Amino acid sequence: MGVLDEAFIQAPEHRPKTHLTNSGDYILSNEIPTIDLSSLQDPHCDKTALAAEIAEACMRWGFFQVINHGLSLDLMRRVEKTVAEFFSLTLEEKRRVKRDEVNPMGYHDGEHTKNVRDWKEIFDFFLQDSTTVPATTEPEDTELRKLTNPWPQNPSDFSLGLPGDRLTGYFKDQTSFLRFNHYPPCPNPELALGVGRHADAGVITVLAQDSVGGLQVSRRSDGQWFSVKPNPDAFIINIGNCMQVWTNDKYWSAEHRVVVNSSKERFSMPFFLFPSHDTNIEPLKELISEDNPPCYKKYNWGKFFAARNRSDYKKLQTESIQI
Ligand code: SIN
Ligand code: FE2
Repeated sequence: MGVLDEAFIQAPEHRPKTHLTNSGDYILSNEIPTIDLSSLQDPHCDKTALAAEIAEACMRWGFFQVINHGLSLDLMRRVEKTVAEFFSLTLEEKRRVKRDEVNPMGYHDGEHTKNVRDWKEIFDFFLQDSTTVPATTEPEDTELRKLTNPWPQNPSDFSLGLPGDRLTGYFKDQTSFLRFNHYPPCPNPELALGVGRHADAGVITVLAQDSVGGLQVSRRSDGQWFSVKPNPDAFIINIGNCMQVWTNDKYWSAEHRVVVNSSKERFSMPFFLFPSHDTNIEPLKELISEDNPPCYKKYNWGKFFAARNRSDYKKLQTESIQI
């Protein structure tokens, strides 16, 4: 089976057919919406058109990129540099800050998605706890928070017809965290994935990535895989399962995956917006009716989150809470 450890090998139907070309099922595409946020710099701007554009993207794709978001590009480059520096440490040094049974945050190089090992290494940290930030990081604390935690500065009107503060109560003790991903060059990119197909569990994910590319999104209408055109100055925003459940399937938590390549390493940085542990997730009552009955049963975020790495995780996945 080549040089690749068996643990990384995907079942044939989940292998990327081609890599970084425009043929087969791997289409480098502009279709995933890009939304220009420059109008938000004007405090008097009318946010209605922008909110409608975002809502459309949340319904059709569950994925979009934002450009001209107003965050410092210099700061983004500095964070990227620090992330690269962290991953270039020796394995021994990285394992000194590895996650363990007590602290789920830290370095990890054995991530699995759907029981297949991902071709990557990661570092996770909660934003509230600065002690888990690696020693190589020099965060401009307030700016870093701005970069990674845009909620609730985003347009408050998400075109669901709800008041702007409708969801804020779910975030009092939010469990959000930031992850650094490193995908080293892979000897057999046709057999493995950087991250196997999955939908994100939280509310929304905000992702910064470098210019290498590899993120693919499954289109809601037909499941076709599309490659996101990398733009290191943009943020990719995607809907997670909580938001899909709250909106009773109006907004879509799309499956996505990461393909790797044999020559280039890749870095990315997702911020996962997660609600408070005690939040019960169910379709919002304003968004259900006799004609649109709830598609999901209620589940508790804290229990779901705590079970993620245990064998009963499957039982708690949103598939199983679907009515
Ligand atoms: C992920 O979905 O977990 C990672 C996405 C990426 O690296 O582009
Ligand atoms: Fe993801």
